[in-house]
Amino acid sequence: MPLPPSPKTPAFVQLMRWIFSPMSLMSECTQRYGDIYSLNLSRKSPNVIFVSNPQALQQILTQDTRDDFSAPGDLNDLFKSLLGDRSVITLSGKEHQRQRQLMMPAFHGERMRTYRQIIDRVTAETIENIPVGHTFEVRATTQAITLRVMMAAVFGLNTGARAVKLEQLLVRLLDRGSSPLSVMMLYLPLLQQEFFGPWETQMRLQREVDDTIYAEIQERHANPDASRTDILSMLMAARDELGTAMTDRELRDELMTLLVAGHETTATALAWALYWIHKLPTVKEKLLDEIDGLGENSDPNAILKLPYLDAVCNESLRIYPVAMLTLPRVVNKTVSIAGYELVTGAVVLGSIYSTHQRADLYPQPQQFRPERFLERQFSTFEFLPFGGGARRCIGSAFALFEMKIALVGILARRELALVDLREIGAKRRGLVTAPARPIRMAVKSSRSLPSLALNTTQGF
Ligand code: HEM
Repeated sequence: MPLPPSPKTPAFVQLMRWIFSPMSLMSECTQRYGDIYSLNLSRKSPNVIFVSNPQALQQILTQDTRDDFSAPGDLNDLFKSLLGDRSVITLSGKEHQRQRQLMMPAFHGERMRTYRQIIDRVTAETIENIPVGHTFEVRATTQAITLRVMMAAVFGLNTGARAVKLEQLLVRLLDRGSSPLSVMMLYLPLLQQEFFGPWETQMRLQREVDDTIYAEIQERHANPDASRTDILSMLMAARDELGTAMTDRELRDELMTLLVAGHETTATALAWALYWIHKLPTVKEKLLDEIDGLGENSDPNAILKLPYLDAVCNESLRIYPVAMLTLPRVVNKTVSIAGYELVTGAVVLGSIYSTHQRADLYPQPQQFRPERFLERQFSTFEFLPFGGGARRCIGSAFALFEMKIALVGILARRELALVDLREIGAKRRGLVTAPARPIRMAVKSSRSLPSLALNTTQGF
């Protein structure tokens, strides 16, 4: 049985292309080699296998806690400098499962009631702050919304000196981390040295973030308040099977994980949705009709179930998935998959981007067409913006919920228009993707759709 094919170019050239233009590299390789191939990206794990074949993805992602595959956290060491080694993302095996179990309750349906009020309030404050006639950069604005929402969900506050400081530090830290140089520093440990200026600056910022988070944790220890319902309070109260609580270091790493994984991703998805809605007049018209059809109905369940809104969110996550790839899985014992042999120890990545670009599943894949999600159902291995299996995104329900409530909140309040109608593609931003150039929009007028009566006190 053959091994997956691979380009013959030197490893360093492959790595540079991977850092600077990952999506065009994946498209080119898929075209040349098919839906399973390997790239040589690092000395530590040469021949990383990229998979965009739904049957193979099913085999990998349903077996990743059993015999054939596993999802070890030490393969996620790119995230270690930011998230620490006690983060759910960087832990393996039983420790990974324990952290997931301690964190999952924060994302259960019942909790969404609290988050809904936060999302609606923050969206209203942010969008109403932009005067009619002004223009704004969409991703920066959606990022302001999602960061504030995450801060409020995690800490139960988004005002006060510490919250403001943490917000500013996180924006600076993530902005620095988004440049190709920062990505290069992650892939090339040689550059992770104190004497190397950019690395040192990043580490200094990181230490400031850590000090601020630890100060908040210490204050909570000193002044316990059983009435608090934020995620930090839940995590501090959570106990594992042995009755053990999380250590402060674990708390720091998980808070950082939620703040980082939970806001930039959703911000970009929201920015793309706003872009497509305003780029394509028929999409906008249909969506506004649907939202209008809610009338006075402010039941948030009704918003979540709007079929066209759901299709718009899915299509936004399909065409340019924020996460290009799943986290890595490793082959525990040699298996054959879709005609290739994957040998013990090989590292496998689900290529979310290439799966979502398959013309057999999504005819004319470059076209934004929400209707495709109304015409047929896709399996969880054909449409997988949140990955799958042992490391499936723990914030997927939260992210979709936030996208929908924020989109309705924005569209119901403001008539917006793109400043520039030229097509915008996607590019790498740190370890995820983002619009290749800024999306600018103008606020044309205020709007007040009946559904704006989104009653923030009503739960579901
Ligand atoms: C549109 C928004 C988002 C996208 C596209 C996204 C995508 C993903 C993907 C692809 C993975 C890897 C899954 C795998 O390897 O199978 C992941 C993991 C993860 N995501 Fe998300 N995510 C989003 C939002 C969020 C939010 C809002 C949170 C938390 C509040 C979050 C927390 C996490 C965590 C903690 C993991 C690691 C899970 C583990 O290692 O067990 N994500 N996400």
